[in-house]
Amino acid sequence: MEIESILSPVKKHLALFDQKLKQNLASDSYLISQVARHLVNRQGKRLRPAMVFLSYGLCADSKTPIHPDHPVMNVALAVEFIHTATLLHDDVVDQSKVRRGQVSVNYKWSNLVSVLMGDFLLAKALRLLVETDSPAILSTVSGATVNLSIGEMSEVQESHNLDVDEKTYFQIISDKTASLFTASCEAGAVAAGANRKTQESLREYGQNLGMAFQITDDLLDWEGETEKTGKGLGTDMKEGKITLPLIHTLKKSDPLTKKKIIRLLENDFNPKDFDKILFFMKGNGGVEYAKNKADGFGKKASYCISGFKDSKYKKALENLVSFVIQRDK
Ligand code: IPE
Ligand code: IPE
Ligand code: MG
Ligand code: MG
Repeated sequence: MEIESILSPVKKHLALFDQKLKQNLASDSYLISQVARHLVNRQGKRLRPAMVFLSYGLCADSKTPIHPDHPVMNVALAVEFIHTATLLHDDVVDQSKVRRGQVSVNYKWSNLVSVLMGDFLLAKALRLLVETDSPAILSTVSGATVNLSIGEMSEVQESHNLDVDEKTYFQIISDKTASLFTASCEAGAVAAGANRKTQESLREYGQNLGMAFQITDDLLDWEGETEKTGKGLGTDMKEGKITLPLIHTLKKSDPLTKKKIIRLLENDFNPKDFDKILFFMKGNGGVEYAKNKADGFGKKASYCISGFKDSKYKKALENLVSFVIQRDK
């Protein structure tokens, strides 16, 4: 199923979101305006704001139209700004040349501009959150932002560590990716005035969905197509990031194969070695293992919302699980 049709229950919310996003990026600074134009030119999938709106819709009276100044709009903008800021920073860290199907900000301008634009977006997000006047929203989203930085930092720390274990990998992806999914869903529920138990169910949904999402992202870094993902292939191998399919392959390979893989990883990156490792990963069940793990997290996510009464929002959140696992972009 295409993401556009999955998100149709919040189509109007997202249209309003796009307008507000542009307004919020307006600035007197010439350089900020230029970079903002570049960012708006190719938007991402807007999954996190969509999750805010869907969680909100699931908990609120769906007949109530949302207005542009509703706190839920601030939350949606804030999580997308935080997400985009982390991408701007991440592309510097990963030395990525392509993002969202166009040249990355660090390559078009410089690392400096990418980092500073990320900071600008984080500051904007903070402001939007403060305006909601909700300590609960501020707490969940700021907590996620802290975890996100911890996750990115741990990943740097563990890069090139061929002995990294699954537990450490799961902690990293939970921090760097699932945290913002979790906060998006929880904050949507908070904005709808949902009770603690409902907030908790949506938190758990977001957490599991985020885990499935990053495992799939890591598989796409090996198996995806740049034309679809809009980003470079093999970035993780280049940067020495040992992700789940590789962790499992290293664990399951016989000593000789393991030695071969390690030698290939130690070489300077080249597409031939990349293909050879991928071949081992497929042969030794690493790819399948990671897919099964993503499926498992997806199932847990679906279970977390199974108690809600049927609605178009619930259906969309269920479909989002399938999208995240099956996605090629
Ligand atoms: C990319 O996230 C960063 C990860 C957490 C893997 P998305 O795939 O949601 O990025 P966009 O916003 O759609 O470009
Ligand atoms: C980083 O993960 C995700 C963030 C939280 C920024 P990746 O490094 O795998 O993200 P991509 O593949 O560059 O989008
Ligand atoms: Mg990256
Ligand atoms: Mg990736």
